[in-house]
Amino acid sequence: MTVRPIRYLGDPVLRQPAKRVRQVDDAIRRLIGDMIESMHAAQGVGLAAPQIGVPLRVVVLGIPDEEPFALVNPVIVRQSGTRRMEHEGCLSVPGYRGSLTRADRVVVRGLDEQGKERRIRAEGNLLAQALQHEVDHVNGVLYVDRLDSRDDLVKLDGTDWATAQPVQEPAALAQQETQSAAADGVAR
Ligand code: NI
Repeated sequence: MTVRPIRYLGDPVLRQPAKRVRQVDDAIRRLIGDMIESMHAAQGVGLAAPQIGVPLRVVVLGIPDEEPFALVNPVIVRQSGTRRMEHEGCLSVPGYRGSLTRADRVVVRGLDEQGKERRIRAEGNLLAQALQHEVDHVNGVLYVDRLDSRDDLVKLDGTDWATAQPVQEPAALAQQETQSAAADGVAR
């Protein structure tokens, strides 16, 4: 298994709706292995394939103290209630956290890594939040799109929350990221 580099906001692969997986085969299982490895290396609780540059509908979830698992072609089939998420983050938007409203309870359907149908139910917890976040990713949506107000996004200075400042123009983030990627000469 290989740790693959994370793609950042401004990379078009994060914005295109990912393609459905037709068959869960060894190539998909290798992808899932790489995704779990990459998620752990980056200390994330979830990762979607576009975040490592693969435009397929595959997500992995790695809630602390639980066995990581994958969902292929995940779809939210039911959602209810609302819950305010404080300080949600994304590996593709490093250095920022945002507060937003998501569903409290979700039922997500998808295939496991053997191609067998699974239904995941979660309510009022990190898994419920992460499932919505990752399904958003395969639809080309990032949490910064779901902010109600500019004040709901903060930029972190290192890990010091005391100095976190609201970001006045989240919309400028993507452009800023694109420019810095170009300046770094990073291949994306
Ligand atoms: Ni994310």
